[in-house]
Amino acid sequence: MSKNTVATLLKQKEQGDKITMLTCYDYSTAKLIDEAGINTILIGDSLGMVVLGYEDTLSVTVEDMIHHSAAVARGAKNALIVCDMPFMSYQVSVEDAVRNAGRLMKEGRANMVKLEGGASVCPQIEAIVKASIPVCAHIGLTPQSVNAFGGFKVQGKSEEAARQLLEDAKKVEAAGASLLVMECVPAKLAELITKELHIPTIGIGAGAGCDGQVLVYQDMLGMFSDFTPKFVKKFAETGNVMKQAFETYAKEVKEGTFPAPEHTFKINEEVLEKLY
Ligand code: KIV
Repeated sequence: MSKNTVATLLKQKEQGDKITMLTCYDYSTAKLIDEAGINTILIGDSLGMVVLGYEDTLSVTVEDMIHHSAAVARGAKNALIVCDMPFMSYQVSVEDAVRNAGRLMKEGRANMVKLEGGASVCPQIEAIVKASIPVCAHIGLTPQSVNAFGGFKVQGKSEEAARQLLEDAKKVEAAGASLLVMECVPAKLAELITKELHIPTIGIGAGAGCDGQVLVYQDMLGMFSDFTPKFVKKFAETGNVMKQAFETYAKEVKEGTFPAPEHTFKINEEVLEKLY
C-alpha cells in the first residue's frame, strides 16, 4: 500500500471509490487505523471532548493539536494526515491562519489542515493554499460555532440555508480547498453538493451520497458514552471489553493471581541468601 495524497483522493472520487477517514489522537491507535488501510486520519479538535474531557471543542489549543498530530504522524505511514485548526487559530486574521497552519505542518507533521466555515474563511483558505498547504474545509454543523448555533443541530434544512450551504461549498472549492467535510447536513443536499463539486466530500451525518465518510473512533468503537449522535454506528463495543478487562485486572491483583510466575523475573537463590 502507498501513501494517500490529495491526488489519490481526487482519483478515488473520479472512480467512485469511497474514501475512508477516522479521527485519531495517539500513536498506537494511528498504527492500527493505518494498518487497517483507512485512507485518511483526522486529528480532530473533537480531541477536546473525547480525549481531554471538555464539554465542547473551544478550549483546544494549537499546542494540543501539534502534540497529538505529531504522535499520530509517527504511527501512520500511509494514511493522509489531516489536522484541525482549533478555535481562534484562524478566525482573527489571515496572517494568524497561515502561521498556525504552518505550525501544524512543521511541528505536527500533518499533510493537510482543516478549518470550519464557508465564504467567511475563504481569504484564509486562499492564503494557506498559497503557502503550499493543502486545506480541507468543513461546513454544515461546525462545532466551533456551537454558541452561535445555540447547540449541535442539523444544518441546511430550509431553502435559504440549503442554498447557503451549496454556495459555501462552491466558494471553498474556488478558494482552493482540496477536500470538504460536511457535518449534519440532510443526505439529499449533501449528495447534490457532492455532485456539484470537483473536490471529494467527506460526510459525517450527511448520508451515503458523499465521496467518503468520517467518524470519531471512540464513537464507532463504543468507547465514549457522554453522548451519541444519531449518525454514529457502533462497529464494536470496545468500551465494554475494556471495562471488563480493567475489572478482571483489579480482581486478579487483589486476589494475588496476577502477576503469575510467567510474568516475573528470577534471581539466583545463592545471591538472595546473601541478603538475609
Ligand atoms: O473534530 C472532529 O473530529 C471533526 C469531525 C467530526 C469531522 O471535525
